[in-house]
Amino acid sequence: MKKRIQIFDTTLRDGEQAPGFSMNLQEKVRLARQLELLGADVIEAGFPISSEGDFQAVRAIAKQTRKATVAGLSRAKKGDIDRAWEALQHARHPRIHTFIATSDIHMEHKLKKTRAEVLADTRMAVEYARSLCPEVEFSAEDATRSDVDFLCQVVETAIDAGAAVINIPDTVGYSMPWEFGELIRTLRERVPNMHKAILSVHCHNDLGVGTANSLMAVRNGAQQIECTMNGIGERAGNAALEEVIMALHTRNAEFEVETSIDTTQIYPTSRMLTEITGMDVQVNKSIVGRNAFSHEAGIHQDGMLKNPQTYEIMTPASVGVASSSIVLGKHSGRRALGARLQRLGFELSREEMDDAYEAFIVIADRKKEVVDEDLLGMAANGFRKNGKHNTRRASAPSTSTPSNGVSQMNTSFTQDSLYEYFNRP
Ligand code: KIV
Ligand code: ZN
Repeated sequence: MKKRIQIFDTTLRDGEQAPGFSMNLQEKVRLARQLELLGADVIEAGFPISSEGDFQAVRAIAKQTRKATVAGLSRAKKGDIDRAWEALQHARHPRIHTFIATSDIHMEHKLKKTRAEVLADTRMAVEYARSLCPEVEFSAEDATRSDVDFLCQVVETAIDAGAAVINIPDTVGYSMPWEFGELIRTLRERVPNMHKAILSVHCHNDLGVGTANSLMAVRNGAQQIECTMNGIGERAGNAALEEVIMALHTRNAEFEVETSIDTTQIYPTSRMLTEITGMDVQVNKSIVGRNAFSHEAGIHQDGMLKNPQTYEIMTPASVGVASSSIVLGKHSGRRALGARLQRLGFELSREEMDDAYEAFIVIADRKKEVVDEDLLGMAANGFRKNGKHNTRRASAPSTSTPSNGVSQMNTSFTQDSLYEYFNRP
């Protein structure tokens, strides 16, 4: 049987606390509904002590969520834990997530506490949270820069105090995949009561390896991955949910694990997040970027038209994207142009196709992308490179040089010639 990996989504907490990503109560509630549809096991809804708005959002999400566990963050302080519980108490499956830093640099400069004090706070926070809430998660902030012996002691204490989940964050995204995998293995081997808790990881992306670290952790025994939609989160963000899930899915023979995520809900969730926050993903973002299933190079387009598996390792449908797209531009070949013209209703002879391709390349050299309207314009000119018609024009846009200096092709076309093309026997 495959091992089950829990997916802990922190888009509404770590993601939302990043500059530009804040959401109001209604927006958080709407996204939480979509995250449940996506199949997240745990939705971290916010940090209730941080603001009244966040408190109300966690409370509303806790009340509406039926299947997923709802988590609320708290520092290792009674006041934070009380506030978290107040917000979570109506959840069907509540989880208090309490944390304290365990690295020397954080303990000395930020907390101004000794190791002994941090150990005592760990026990106090977990025991207190556990006295209120049936499920408690404990995080050792900055775990990857902590002394390993001390980290093992903290983890053992948290489990002894009643934590059901132990989370190991790479808070500043410092760890390399092999180091992080090794740390997870070490904890499994050295903490005597580790088997009594779920071992979770939470990786930041400062060096671009958040997803790789999460995957190495799975290979070394981690049972929960904390991640965010579109990889949003503090600074460079968190491990992206879509990347982690599609890696586990596409390379399943390597991992032999399963999750509860409905992969077809990935793209709709990503779009909802960008719509709510107004922050789009980069075009070449894995899985959810506009170019993730687009092909422009002629050789790739030819392969795609023959068999999509030549250049796609997952289907667009598997992540909820309607279809792949063949983008016509200066790198495109005759085959892709022919296929698009055919879809537009044109059957060209070999000579016509030669002319059409020549005319197309002239336009493609001037424009980033040649769209259907451009091809219809070419058709109107009889697919001649410099064809000119003086007949009546339809109201399509004419040649212009926009402020970015990239001149666009003349998309004016004659109604007569188009009529001729579309109505030929
Ligand atoms: O990055 C981090 O350490 C965190 C913890 C609060 C889990 O977000
Ligand atoms: Zn974090």
